[in-house]
Amino acid sequence: MAATPTESRLLRACRREATDTTPIWLMRQAGRYMPEYRKLREHHPLLTMIKTPELACEVTLQPIEAFDLDAAIIFADILPPLEGMGLHLRFAEGEGPIIGNPIRTAEDIERLRVPPPEETLPFTLEAIRLARAHLDGRNIPLIGFSGAPFTLAAYAIEGKSSRNYAQVKGLMMGEPAAWHELMTKLSEVVGEYLLAQARAGAQALQLFDSWVGQLSPADYRAFALPYTQRALAIARQAGVPIIHFATDTSGYLEAMRETGADVISVDWRVDLDAAWQRIGEGVAIQGNLDPVALFAPWEALKQRAQTVLEQAGGRAGHIFNVGHGILPGTPTDNVKRLVDFVHEYAAPSHD
Ligand code: CP3
Repeated sequence: MAATPTESRLLRACRREATDTTPIWLMRQAGRYMPEYRKLREHHPLLTMIKTPELACEVTLQPIEAFDLDAAIIFADILPPLEGMGLHLRFAEGEGPIIGNPIRTAEDIERLRVPPPEETLPFTLEAIRLARAHLDGRNIPLIGFSGAPFTLAAYAIEGKSSRNYAQVKGLMMGEPAAWHELMTKLSEVVGEYLLAQARAGAQALQLFDSWVGQLSPADYRAFALPYTQRALAIARQAGVPIIHFATDTSGYLEAMRETGADVISVDWRVDLDAAWQRIGEGVAIQGNLDPVALFAPWEALKQRAQTVLEQAGGRAGHIFNVGHGILPGTPTDNVKRLVDFVHEYAAPSHD
């Protein structure tokens, strides 16, 4: 019989239990830096790949075949849940995601649907079931994920990636009741989607709040944190560990602990040991190599990876990762060397 998935390094580290070596996976590990992905993508648009469970499963497994990673992450994107709410999503070549009918008024928000994920995102739930069947024999856990309410609101309102987030903040500051309505709907969509992914077989869940670092600490607490808490309270019913990722939040790392996540994922703008001290010992930490370091010559990359490991100091509950997604163009031989280096690194003994 296959080993039980709960014995994996990643899940042990999420619970801050000792592991034989530091677990490592990489955000956006399935994607354009891999020749195998680009080859498949030549034949299918991104949303088709996401909505075809067999293809999504195949892409999920590509980095697992290529590198000795300690987790797989289901191939999907943070934006398809917005389609089920009534927004029109497309990915324009070279431009990134675009929402054709972005939210502009309180009436737009009122019209947004809050459908069950089984109805609007069955393809990702099915991809999770397929991927689990492949991963179980290898004892590699599968991570499900969602965008956080703030980051989804940012795309829904701006309609695309933004520099200043003026329209999002305009609604947030100018029409707090409409903001509350929108974020309440998003928290339910996000929470139910995460819960459904865990019920379909995801053994850990990651919440991506990529753009929340645009907020001041006070605005984060007032306009984002309560809705992240609500989404995670729903997801928590599944009983699987929850990882919370955000960038540019060095100004309010302590508040991120209040989300209720088991693991906080930090970027490279803060030293890992300082971050851990500020967040507190009762949570696990994921991070925090600068993804651009993967383009550097091996010696320079190795030195930076070693610094991250030294700062973690062999403490139980460190999951090695990049501080933001791995970038297109990243040399795959550096990825392989990094993964092997992290596994071979022995922390200096503290006793
Ligand atoms: O991590 C994985 O390997 C799983 C797959 C995954 C994708 N997107 C596939 C994808 C994950 C976890 C995401 C998350 C995501 N999507 C985030 C949060 C993480 C982050 O980087 O901050 C965000 C903000 C998005 C929105 C998004 N999707 C953007 C801005 C873009 C275009 C630019 C970019 O970063 O690639 C996408 C497209 C996208 N999603 C691609 C992939 C592999 C590239 C698609 C392609 O052209 O083939």
